[in-house]
Amino acid sequence: MTSIQAQIIDLDLGADSYSIHVEDGLRHRLSELLKPWNKGQQWVVLSQAAILAEYQSVIDELNAAGYRIECIVVPGDESAKNIRFAEQVWSQMVEIGCDRSSVLLALGGGVVGDLGGFVAATYMRGIPFIQIPTTLLAMIDSAIGGKTAVNLAAGKNLVGAIYQPQTVLVDPGFLATLPRRNVISSLAEAIKYGFIRDKSIFDTIEARFDDLLSLSDQALLSDIIAKSCRIKAQIVSNDQFENGERRLLNYGHTIGHAFETIQDYGGLYHGEAVLYGMKCANFISNKKGLLSDSQYQQAQRVLNLFDLPELGKVDPQRVLEVVSHDKKNINGKLNFILIDGIGKGVVSTDVDHSDIVDSLSTVQG
Ligand SMILES: NC(=O)c1ccc[n+]([C@@H]2O[C@H](COP(=O)([O-])OP(=O)(O)OC[C@H]3O[C@@H](n4cnc5c(N)ncnc54)[C@H](O)[C@@H]3O)[C@@H](O)[C@H]2O)c1
Ligand SMILES: [Zn+2]
Repeated sequence: MTSIQAQIIDLDLGADSYSIHVEDGLRHRLSELLKPWNKGQQWVVLSQAAILAEYQSVIDELNAAGYRIECIVVPGDESAKNIRFAEQVWSQMVEIGCDRSSVLLALGGGVVGDLGGFVAATYMRGIPFIQIPTTLLAMIDSAIGGKTAVNLAAGKNLVGAIYQPQTVLVDPGFLATLPRRNVISSLAEAIKYGFIRDKSIFDTIEARFDDLLSLSDQALLSDIIAKSCRIKAQIVSNDQFENGERRLLNYGHTIGHAFETIQDYGGLYHGEAVLYGMKCANFISNKKGLLSDSQYQQAQRVLNLFDLPELGKVDPQRVLEVVSHDKKNINGKLNFILIDGIGKGVVSTDVDHSDIVDSLSTVQG
């Protein structure tokens, strides 16, 4: 198997700029890559049991190289993105002896990254943090761009901060142990980039779906990771605080988040909910005359390739209630992301409650 060529992608944010380093096997070079941030202080690795069970050697190598590291473990599902766990992590960090110079390493998927970033943003008013993503979703999306958050019962990610990492170190080698269901869920964010920005990603997913799911073709994987990181980095560089084009990254998320919220974050995975949400958003894009009938059919056909758990019966009123708390709403007006053909996302203020209720027909029998 050929190894993935190393790539450095810069995210330009003035004083907060950083780079995303993509390299197969970099997990074995962390002591060297992290050196610029090591001043002999206490470090914390935030992770989950399933990840440490596979990659304890990564921590051992850092300890052997003289880093002072303690691990903090949170539950292995979305329930960890909760203020209760943020508080537990803050308290454990005090016990461990972390001060303002401590560095928090988020070793995990989007849950660990979002919670870890939020903890780092707030512990002693902010300490440096570094993202080492271990899921495909985190590598192509959540580890990049500084969105950190915890969930509330009323909605996803309603409490958080924009807080940029010092660097993002992406090793596709971590994916070897990723469960298939998470690979499917992760690909939701890749096809999202295809819908809103780069049709070639959509075309690749359509043509090479099985190869992508099996993670068997390193060059293909490398291409999709690098392309996705570039799109995310470019959009965030242009619009860090989501006043404009960054909103496009919420394609499929307004309704997808509602499905996650209604299921109390214990049912569908994030990407699965977003895949359902994109089916709804495609429906509305077609209804509004933005997406032609043939492109709509093609889009739904590709989304139907993804093996998803049953959505179950959802109450349209509950969906509308959750959507009304969406962070993109301004003065009660819905900012909904649609596509004007595959590859071009647009922000619409023309989507009303009846459009959303109608779109549920495409995900429920
Ligand atoms: N901040 C952002 O910009 C942003 C963007 C997209 C999604 N998100 C968030 O990301 C979260 C979803 O993240 P996710 O899909 O990465 O899931 P996840 O973080 O829940 O990880 C999935 C599961 O896989 C395990 N795991 C992780 N890496 C592994 C590996 N290499 N080998 C074996 N097991 C491994 C984890 O322990 C976990 O149980 C959601 O909360 C979503 O809201 C955030
Ligand atoms: Zn997402």
